[in-house]
Amino acid sequence: MAKPTLTFVCQSCGAAFSKWSGRCDGCGEWNTIAEEKPLSEGPAKQALGGRGRAVTLTDLAANEAPPPRTAAGLDELDRVLGGGLVPASAVLVGGDPGIGKSTLLLQAAAAFARSGLKVIYVSGEEASAQVRLRAQRLGLADAPVQLAAETNLRDILTTLDNERPDLAIVDSIQTMWADNVGSAPGSVSQVRAAAHELTSFAKKRGSAVIMVGHVTKDGQIAGPRVVEHMVDTVLYFEGERGHQFRILRSVKNRFGPADEIGVFEMTGGGLAQVTNPSALFLSERGQPAPGSVVFSGIEGTRPVLVELQALVAPSPHSQPRRSVVGWDGSRLAMILAVLESRCGIPFAGLDVYLNVAGGMKISEPAADLAVAAALLSAREDSALPPETVVFGEISLSGALRPVGQAENRLKEAQKLGFSTAIMPKGGKAAKGAGMKLSQMSDLTSFVGDVFGA
Ligand code: TYD
Ligand code: MG
Repeated sequence: MAKPTLTFVCQSCGAAFSKWSGRCDGCGEWNTIAEEKPLSEGPAKQALGGRGRAVTLTDLAANEAPPPRTAAGLDELDRVLGGGLVPASAVLVGGDPGIGKSTLLLQAAAAFARSGLKVIYVSGEEASAQVRLRAQRLGLADAPVQLAAETNLRDILTTLDNERPDLAIVDSIQTMWADNVGSAPGSVSQVRAAAHELTSFAKKRGSAVIMVGHVTKDGQIAGPRVVEHMVDTVLYFEGERGHQFRILRSVKNRFGPADEIGVFEMTGGGLAQVTNPSALFLSERGQPAPGSVVFSGIEGTRPVLVELQALVAPSPHSQPRRSVVGWDGSRLAMILAVLESRCGIPFAGLDVYLNVAGGMKISEPAADLAVAAALLSAREDSALPPETVVFGEISLSGALRPVGQAENRLKEAQKLGFSTAIMPKGGKAAKGAGMKLSQMSDLTSFVGDVFGA
């Protein structure tokens, strides 16, 4: 029997199926499956592969020094890249439409050009004149960046082959169109083909390539997730529309640490670097209020203080609401369950809202104790003592587990004028750095000490 052809492709995760269905079995998203034409026939395959050459690792090490990185001189960007741009690397910058990706990359293009790289900025979304206008607005009109407005992948590759830039920026991968692929631009096959061609170009020619990818929740166009595994580095540009803060986060980096963040602020004149994010995230904090707790977190290699806000109110619904912004909802459910079963503090019949201020997203389990403190503080309507930071992981038994980099967390807190830290006992003895440490071994003693319950 002939194998069924897989022509229905999930536009979110790229899984292929032989027939249409409303929900993708691969990623669980709804209405993301669309029909796509397979790749057109290429040249007949050779029975035997072409020449391949293997070298021993030691040969490589002796003959080839690691290629030097180029720093853009924008510290927030350089740090996220792992210290600068690596030649021949492929980088994907993903983010919601309108978040500021084009602005960031135009500024990056200018910065790299001023550091001596030959940079081409290819825009598939805007005409060169529009890009130039934007550059003028950003005060970058005199930067030695070459612009091209093009969507045909073949033309782009020819241009890049002729120009041989050190860095090519392609904005965006969803507007690229490969003429040997039957489906529409933005579909999974097109996005994959474009990413593959551009990545191969980077590897073959030694140019670094930065691709922009829009993230879409409704699955209208293929998301960057389908190209994540092809590239060396994946950065996400995040932020809330209502806030001016933008966070560039590395989620994958073959040449540096993942989970590093760079913080920017969107201003009338483009993105400005934020060198002290803790001060920025805490700047909107007023007097100590019930439900508000400052968490001393670590993002990548850097300590960042953020404010957690909780609200607990009697619920009019039979199924109380649990709403989280900036943290993991299932982790919240776990903390509520531990508070209930280990400390005897019920949240049944109460709506619970938790928000990380400033549009920041936290993924560290070290925030557990700060979340529990915010929930309790809101529930008991009692503010934590002022100038207090909280951090620590909570286990299902209600024990508090020490977390990494306690010393850095304390130092950052002290720098910003905090005097007390509530944290787990044990672990590598953390020096107080002049802070008063209130160390506890389990959640019950925390509840007793802090809230007298
Ligand atoms: P843009 O970089 O076009 O977003 P993306 O490429 O991710 O779709 O940024 C769009 C938003 O940024 C737009 O709403 C206007 C705002 N913006 C500023 O606030 N200041 C500026 O200097 C620029 C260029 C844009
Ligand atoms: Mg754009």
